Amino acid sequence: MTALVELRGVSQRFGDAGAGRVTQVLSDVDLSVAEGESVAVVGPSGSGKSTLLHLIGALAPPTSGSVRIAGTDLAEIDGDGLADLRNEIVGFVFQDHHLLPQCSALENVLVPTLARRRADRAGARERARGLLEEVGLADRCDHRPGELSGGERQRVAVVRALINEPRLLLADEPTGSLDSVAAAGLAELLVGLHAEHGLTLLVVTHAEALAVRMQRRLCLGAGRLVEG
Ligand SMILES: Nc1ncnc2c1ncn2[C@@H]1O[C@H](COP(=O)(O)OP(=O)(O)O)[C@@H](O)[C@H]1O
Ligand SMILES: [Mg+2]
Repeated sequence: MTALVELRGVSQRFGDAGAGRVTQVLSDVDLSVAEGESVAVVGPSGSGKSTLLHLIGALAPPTSGSVRIAGTDLAEIDGDGLADLRNEIVGFVFQDHHLLPQCSALENVLVPTLARRRADRAGARERARGLLEEVGLADRCDHRPGELSGGERQRVAVVRALINEPRLLLADEPTGSLDSVAAAGLAELLVGLHAEHGLTLLVVTHAEALAVRMQRRLCLGAGRLVEG
């Protein structure tokens, strides 16, 4: 069976080699995540967790090595192909929700559907309402982000990441700006969504309480990714 996420010999460097300022963030990273798995990636600040997630989410190419998502080598598709893949396979949740302040919760959730073909957009509004209801926000659809709590905003961000029915949900420190009660609620939500929607879940986190809820745990340090 092909893995949903497959990294082979991935390295990432930033900076200007000519000027002698190079940061080696990832060194020869291999990773294989099967469809339906839930995985936590832990590691100290600056260890490259966001960099790793961006590579997997087709947001940036590695310096060397290969990234395959659902069997497709990202180096072999063009910008449109990458955009389609991001839109159709991947959902992304950021630490600080990145919701549009002037739009309601419902409108924010619908943003990723705007790039889709008309036929694919049919029913998006109903699905958005259904998902917001599923995460306990049925009566918050018309609220703007400024009118929601931190935990509620982050739940809206999760729903937005799910609206195009991704196979892979990537979350970058999704509880990083939440208090412990809201963080526990969000962890519960992610675990429930993983179980009910059969999603593959890759979560970068500092929070032990969230990491232990995932089936697998990987640790990033000194550019290397190790199991356990
Ligand atoms: N676009 C970039 N250009 C230069 N350096 C970067 C860039 N992105 C990240 N870095 C550096 O790479 C290292 C890892 O960053 P990051 O992946 O954000 O770590 P983490 O998410 O684990 O805190 C940091 O030292 C950061 O400064
Ligand atoms: Mg980060």
